[in-house]
Amino acid sequence: QLHKHPKHVEWTHNGPGNLGIFGTFDRGQLQRGFQVYKEVCSACHSINRVAFRNLADLGFSEAQIKAIAAEYEVAAIDANGEPTTRKATPADKFPLVYANEAAARAAQNGANPPDLSLMTKARPDGTNYVYSLLTGYSDDVPKGWTKPDTSYYNPYFHSINIAMPPPLSADGQVTYSDGTPATVDQYAKDVAVFLTWTAEPKLENRKETGVAAILFLIIMTGLGYLSYRKVWADIK
Ligand code: HEM
Repeated sequence: QLHKHPKHVEWTHNGPGNLGIFGTFDRGQLQRGFQVYKEVCSACHSINRVAFRNLADLGFSEAQIKAIAAEYEVAAIDANGEPTTRKATPADKFPLVYANEAAARAAQNGANPPDLSLMTKARPDGTNYVYSLLTGYSDDVPKGWTKPDTSYYNPYFHSINIAMPPPLSADGQVTYSDGTPATVDQYAKDVAVFLTWTAEPKLENRKETGVAAILFLIIMTGLGYLSYRKVWADIK
């Protein structure tokens, strides 16, 4: 059995003990993950479900978001009704990298880099999966395993031979400004968390609501019990 299940990592958004009950994203980590996405992954993968203004969740200011959006071009129609492009604004979504699937496959040796917006939801144990995939490349192809020259060996990928070249290949590849170690392992963790946010931007609200609902139920149970004791105290 060559295929491997994802490695198990403790994520801040899974809360204490990785139980999943509490937990919040680490803003610094989300920003670093976005940086890795932007500087590395965005060459091939879109995050088309995300609008630039959503980056406010990561702690970016309006001015920063405007500047980030302006680095991207989106499709538009000019005054004569002809298709053209314009600079993106905060209201736009991150544009596609390729016009369509055929163009993507033509540029990628026949493979199609999927949109990453919902990737951590589309795969079981998605955050761990993305982290494991990115750190799971190996040159030690087991004896008897056939790998086409255009693929790479990665036992975390469903078919083990993956068309994506190892995107995170060297420490120092991305320069962090917050003092976090610039290692492949850290890049992989940070971008996995960023992609968890793109797939579930309201994760923190969901957990807060859950905790509030449980507290409410505990309190109501206590009140119910106390009123029961009072109302039916004399009934035998
Ligand atoms: C597939 C993530 C960078 C090309 C994938 C998949 C993920 C992923 C999660 C899907 C695996 C699956 O279907 O389960 C990332 C991340 C990147 C990154 C987080 C940045 C750190 C790149 C780059 C390229 C690329 C730079 C192009 C040079 C591809 C291709 C596939 C793919 C072609 C399809 C693979 C196949 O079907 O065999 N990537 N990727 N990726 N990626 Fe990337």
